[in-house]
Amino acid sequence: MGGKLLNPENSIHLDTVDRAKNTFRKNFGSEAGFIAAAPGRVNLIGDHTDYNDGLALPLSIDRYTVIAGNRGKHGLAARIFSGLNGELAELHAGDLRSNMVTGWQSYVRGVVAGFTECHFQSVPGFEAVVESSLPVGAGLSSSAALAVALATFLEAILGSEITPVEKAQLCQKAEYDFAGVPCGIMDPFAAVFGQSDQLLLLDCQSLELEYIPFESNDVTILVVDSRARRELADGRYALRRRQSAMALSTIGCRSYREVSDEILYSNKSQLNDIEFRRARHVVSECQRVRRFSNAIQSDDFLRAGELLFESHESLRIDYDVSCVELDFLVDSARQIGPEGGMMGMRMTGGGFGGCTVSLVRKDCVNEIAENIKTDFEYKFGMVPQMFTTRPSLGAHMINPSP
Ligand code: GLA
Repeated sequence: MGGKLLNPENSIHLDTVDRAKNTFRKNFGSEAGFIAAAPGRVNLIGDHTDYNDGLALPLSIDRYTVIAGNRGKHGLAARIFSGLNGELAELHAGDLRSNMVTGWQSYVRGVVAGFTECHFQSVPGFEAVVESSLPVGAGLSSSAALAVALATFLEAILGSEITPVEKAQLCQKAEYDFAGVPCGIMDPFAAVFGQSDQLLLLDCQSLELEYIPFESNDVTILVVDSRARRELADGRYALRRRQSAMALSTIGCRSYREVSDEILYSNKSQLNDIEFRRARHVVSECQRVRRFSNAIQSDDFLRAGELLFESHESLRIDYDVSCVELDFLVDSARQIGPEGGMMGMRMTGGGFGGCTVSLVRKDCVNEIAENIKTDFEYKFGMVPQMFTTRPSLGAHMINPSP
């Protein structure tokens, strides 16, 4: 079994685990023998780089999707109940490709299909429930958390593990092929490889991972949810992918990793304005990821914060994936500035809505949150959700009877 045990300090996590056990008992009339958890993520810096062979620096957060269940009694059929929306998904070997399902059920099908492929046989039937402490659709990667939690659960009931990289790739494929979202590898990677107090410096070309310690006593990570919701599948994400690929092919390199500033600017006249800006974002964002992780390693939070603001500008102007709510939050952060304990803020993830991520001084976090809330509510008539977080353990199994 994929063995690491739960960090007992994490009370949100414990609540979710308890909820999952209760939901299972209520719906299936027995105790869950297997419990798997996988976290959401925020990306500190390096967005729209993962599908461009670039660098990203996410962390898995202390909010989890939990799957609790047992091997089933009905041959190859699987039944999964979601405590989040009260839906029951029923799967039968042979109809995994059904077009009838959308949303969370398509991820479930995608992961089960992936396991069927890698085990060259159908996975055994199972009964399970899903519970989560992650907000859905907030850009915190709740879908990758679901896919990775299910993959971890299936490894446990099959009694055989796939490699962590295979697991991340299988979950990415589930999202790509079954949910129709042409996402990169970052989200499932973060959900699989997360570690307490470690940022994940991910090279999306080689899939090499370097852990960067983040254990500051003075600075914390604040996530603000703008509550603007735009689905990745709505086409704009896919369009950005095509535009950056088109720019690369005009530049004539095989990978963005070969594109230096000199090469980019010497090809400027060959590229149309949009392509040039898309390419400039990818090239400059990868440079910022390196500078940011160097700044964190030397405890230079002032510099790290500047890079967050710069990344936001690049995503706003060059990649054009921000929105008024996110820009408003980042402008408020700029006004607070380092004097007020706000080192820097940027939109995080795919964009067009979702969350910002920021580095803030711990002793100022309450005041900062209050100021942001007041300004945002005045402007948009609703309160943004906020929480501080820290790098947390990636996918793991939990002892069902501690
Ligand atoms: C979404 C995708 C990721 C990544 C980000 C942008 O979260 O799922 O693969 O491309 O957008 O960095």
